[in-house]
Amino acid sequence: MKIWLLSTLFLVCCCHVASSCPDLCQCYVSPRKTEVVCNSVPLTQFPSEGMPSNTTSLTIQYTNVSSISALHLSATPLLQELYLYANNLSSLPADLFRGVPLLSTVALSDNKLDRLPASVFGHAPLQNLVLKNNLMVSADAEWLPDNSNLTWLDLSGNRLTAVPAALFKKLRRLENLDLSHNRLEKIQTNSLGPLIRLERLNLEGNKLATLEPSTFSSNLNLTHLFLLENRLEELPSTLFHGLPNLQHLSLDNNRLRHIPPGLLDQLHSIAEEGLDITGNPWVCDRKVEYLWRWLKKNHKKMFMANDLRCASPDALKERLVMSLTESDLGL
Ligand SMILES: *[C@@H]1O[C@H](CO)[C@@H](O)[C@H](O)[C@H]1NC(C)=O
Ligand SMILES: *[C@@H]1O[C@H](CO)[C@@H](O)[C@H](O)[C@H]1NC(C)=O
Ligand SMILES: *[C@@H]1O[C@H](CO)[C@@H](O)[C@H](O)[C@H]1NC(C)=O
Ligand SMILES: *[C@@H]1O[C@H](CO)[C@@H](O)[C@H](O)[C@H]1NC(C)=O
Ligand SMILES: *[C@@H]1O[C@H](CO)[C@@H](O)[C@H](O)[C@H]1NC(C)=O
Repeated sequence: MKIWLLSTLFLVCCCHVASSCPDLCQCYVSPRKTEVVCNSVPLTQFPSEGMPSNTTSLTIQYTNVSSISALHLSATPLLQELYLYANNLSSLPADLFRGVPLLSTVALSDNKLDRLPASVFGHAPLQNLVLKNNLMVSADAEWLPDNSNLTWLDLSGNRLTAVPAALFKKLRRLENLDLSHNRLEKIQTNSLGPLIRLERLNLEGNKLATLEPSTFSSNLNLTHLFLLENRLEELPSTLFHGLPNLQHLSLDNNRLRHIPPGLLDQLHSIAEEGLDITGNPWVCDRKVEYLWRWLKKNHKKMFMANDLRCASPDALKERLVMSLTESDLGL
C-alpha cells in the first residue's frame, strides 16, 4: 500500500516537473500533440527555457521576438507546425529548419521580412508556407527543394512586382496560391503552367491591366479564381475556357466596359452567386448583348445580378443591365 502510494506520488511529481512550460506561455499536452502558445506577451527573445522537448506545435505571436535560430528549434525535433505571426522578425538564418525534419507548416505573417536566404526551407518537408504581410520584393526558386510538396503558398501583402515563375516550376503539388495585394502588373506567359493541381488562385488587389489568353490554360482544376480590384480593362474571349471546375470567379472592381462574346460559355460549374462582376463601368451599347443574354439565362449565378447597372451611355446611365430591352440596345 505504502509503496503503491509512494510510486503514485513519484509519478505525479515526475510528470509535473517534466511537462514544463516557458514563462509567459501556455502549454497544452495531449497524447498526440504538445502545443506551446506565447500570445501577446512582452517577450523579446525566443522562449527556450522550459520549452517541452516533444513540442509538436509552437505559436509565438504578437511579441517583440526579433530573431530565431536553428539552435532554438533543434530543441524541439518533433516540431510539425510553427506559427510566428506578428513578431519583429526581419531575417531568418539559412539553416533555421535544419533540426526540425518533420516541420510541415510555417507561418510568418506580419513580420518585417524583406528577403530570405537561399534554401531556407530546403531542410523541411513543408506543405504550408505563409509569408503574408511582409516586405518581400521577390520569391526565389532556391528557397525550396526541387521535390517540394508544398500545397499552400501565401505571399499576399508583399511587394512582388513579378510572378515568381522559377519558384512555381518546383510547385507541381500546389493547390492554393495567394498572391493578393502585391504589385503585379502582368502574369508572364506560361508562368502558372507548372501549377497543374492549383484549385484556388487569388490575384486580388494587384495592378493587372491585361491577361494573356493562355494565362490559366494549364490550371484545369481551378475552382476559385479571384481577380478583383485590379485594372483589367479587357479580357480575351477564351481566358476562362478549359476551366470546367470553376465555381467562384471574381472580376469586381476592375475597369471592364464590355465582356467579349464567349467569355463565360465554358463555365459550367459556377455556383449560385459565384460570379461577381460588380463595380465595373459597363457600357450598355450593342456590345453588351452577350452579357445581357447570359444574365437573362443565368442570373442566379451572378452575384447581385439585380444591381448590375450601366455606367454609360448617358441615356442609359444607372439602368439595370437586366432591365434593358432590345430596342434600348438598338438590336
Ligand atoms: C510530451 O511529454 C509530456 C510530458 O512529458 C507527455 O505528457 C506527452 O504525452 C508527450 N507528448 C507527446 C506527443 O509525446
Ligand atoms: C513591443 O515593444 C513595443 C515598443 O517597445 C512596446 O510598446 C510593446 O508593448 C511591446 N509589445 C509586447 C507584446 O511586449
Ligand atoms: C525590432 O528589431 C530591431 C532589429 O531588427 C530592433 O532594433 C528593435 O529594437 C526591435 N523592436 C522591438 C520593439 O523590440
Ligand atoms: C515529397 O513527398 C514525397 C512522397 O511522399 C517524398 O518522397 C519527398 O521526399 C517529399 N519531398 C520533400 C522535399 O520532403
Ligand atoms: C484534378 O482534380 C481531380 C478531382 O479532384 C483529380 O482527380 C485530379 O488528379 C486533379 N488533377 C491534377 C492534375 O491534379
